[in-house]
Amino acid sequence: MEVVIFKNADKVTRRGAGLVAEMLGVKPNAVFGFATGSTPIELYRQLVDRHRKGELSFRDTTSFNLDEYMGIAADNPQSYRSYMNREFFDHVDIDKNNTYLPACENSENPQLVGPEYEASIRRAGGIDLQILGIGHNGHIGFNEPSSSLSSRTRVKTLTRRTLEDNSRMFSNGEFQPKLAITMGIGTIMEARRILLLATGKSKADAVAAMVEGPLTAMCPASILQMHERVTVLIDEDAAAGLKYREYYDLAHRENRALKERFGEFYASG
Ligand code: GLP
Repeated sequence: MEVVIFKNADKVTRRGAGLVAEMLGVKPNAVFGFATGSTPIELYRQLVDRHRKGELSFRDTTSFNLDEYMGIAADNPQSYRSYMNREFFDHVDIDKNNTYLPACENSENPQLVGPEYEASIRRAGGIDLQILGIGHNGHIGFNEPSSSLSSRTRVKTLTRRTLEDNSRMFSNGEFQPKLAITMGIGTIMEARRILLLATGKSKADAVAAMVEGPLTAMCPASILQMHERVTVLIDEDAAAGLKYREYYDLAHRENRALKERFGEFYASG
């Protein structure tokens, strides 16, 4: 894993946006894997800004979101489809026909949605860059602790912790889904490159478990230790639990120097 620690959350998202821009530079028709939650909101804002300045175009890109709630319609403001439209798709030139979320609302059998979603990802040529956040319990997408490390897109029941964490997004009395459909861990692992963003003290334990803990289904994000090209962008607060902090900083400096000498240099984790 390439672990890069920044002074604050703003620098984390700036670097994240920079990596998305680099991907677009190399491959204007890149296939992105997008995430929701509060962490990537600022990343989307920066991408929208750069698009408005004429620096970035998403015209030829395709995107697959990690997950979607079950039991609410796409036009419900709480759906991840609404989130993506509001925070990103409505403000850039991406063709919405090429933006996918694993929605169940029009499916007679939600069990068929997963395999169909996987087939769409394959037809698009696979995901070039997957953006991830991390849950306090180490989940990625909605793959909660104990999820199979080789799982595929499917329906998952959310843990009490996740429901509590996400309840801040729902008003009193508003229906909060307990089920979601999420890309599996096996699905996420097939992305060619993965970018995980985490900020704030509350993420420090999950980040330490992901980067330095044992590989275990109890911290689903720890599977990323097995991926060849993962970049973890975190701020000081989220890095607080890391024991090898000094090494990550040193490796980052060396990687930057290599990039200056040899051009684009992909740090192997
Ligand atoms: C949500 C999403 C994840 C997200 C995580 C953290 O439940 N399903 O994709 O990474 O929880 O969210 P936040 O960034 O708001 O902390």
